[in-house]
Amino acid sequence: MKIGFIGTGWFANKHASILGEMNGIEVSAFVGTSLEKAETEARKWSNAKGYTNVEEMLDKQKLDAVYICVPPMAHGAIEKALLERRIPFFVEKPLGINDEPFEIARNIVEQGLITSVGYHWRYMDISKKAQALLQERQAGMALGYWMGSMPMVHWWRDVSKSGGQFIEQTTHIVDLLRFLIGEVKEVYSAYSSRVMESKVEGTTVSDVGSVILKLNNGIVANISNTCILPESHKAGLEIYTNEGVMEITSNLLRDNRGKELNEYRNQLDPYKVENEIFLNAVKTGDASHILSTYSDAVKTHAITLAAAQSALTGLPVSLEVEE
Ligand SMILES: NC(=O)c1ccc[n+]([C@@H]2O[C@H](COP(=O)([O-])OP(=O)(O)OC[C@H]3O[C@@H](n4cnc5c(N)ncnc54)[C@H](O)[C@@H]3O)[C@@H](O)[C@H]2O)c1
Repeated sequence: MKIGFIGTGWFANKHASILGEMNGIEVSAFVGTSLEKAETEARKWSNAKGYTNVEEMLDKQKLDAVYICVPPMAHGAIEKALLERRIPFFVEKPLGINDEPFEIARNIVEQGLITSVGYHWRYMDISKKAQALLQERQAGMALGYWMGSMPMVHWWRDVSKSGGQFIEQTTHIVDLLRFLIGEVKEVYSAYSSRVMESKVEGTTVSDVGSVILKLNNGIVANISNTCILPESHKAGLEIYTNEGVMEITSNLLRDNRGKELNEYRNQLDPYKVENEIFLNAVKTGDASHILSTYSDAVKTHAITLAAAQSALTGLPVSLEVEE
């Protein structure tokens, strides 16, 4: 299968390297913001070409699927171009920074197009383990966090480009919360700017924030984030249940049942797993193993947008929920 990439940055590179190790997959094209960047990326592959324009790439190459790995503000027209030509796509989170993904999601469902979104925490072995353990327990509340330093790519610190930390980064934890314990019906947030505005020029994102989430099933959650730290501290989700506390971070599930502590680690690389499952779906037409489709991910998007709105207005925001 021939695969095209839109974006030439860190994560386009990450996915392309994984695809490079798979049988039957040819990395065939890159679209970049300049021909130089696109061709530099393309030269790493024996048969790949560089373009500056998505339509041009799609006119000149017959691609089986496309990876979209661009910053949050660059979404919209790309997905619409792929939809028009019915080309399956894998898109990195977040889906965008505005309402456009809702319309795109409706069109994807109408067409039955195969899509996958890079919420890779869903593909971790320890998330599957947590899901199984939760079958036997009653969750009461959850505390999530993404406590780190500021990524130094220019677009990240500009709220009009990234949407802010909760939309751009902490979205992984919101999505994990939905995946493991249920849909969210209301959010209420407080954000503030304490450090980074005066430290890094051009910073307009809030650098601390806390979001309270009410779930449809009665569970209450709080997810907080900061990007003021000099080094990354921790990112994960704690679930408080009638049997104890389960803590999930990127490579460790600590199942703390009072006197008993069990620890589990990932056996497989979730990035490889999500790519294998997506490409297999494209090949066979069976998308049933994809754990994060565009139309599911748009629900996570709605929660993170609502959190930003609540922080601006100071009021809770209700969400439409269908379990
Ligand atoms: N799932 C994960 O763990 C994970 C990790 C890192 C990044 N990401 C996501 O991947 C996306 C990209 O992040 P990155 O780290 O690769 O950023 P980056 O800044 O390294 O790269 C972004 C690339 O997109 C290009 N670009 C911007 N607008 C474009 C457009 N309209 N058309 C084509 N190319 C365009 C830029 O020139 C750049 O090459 C972000 O949404 C980020 O959240 C996900």
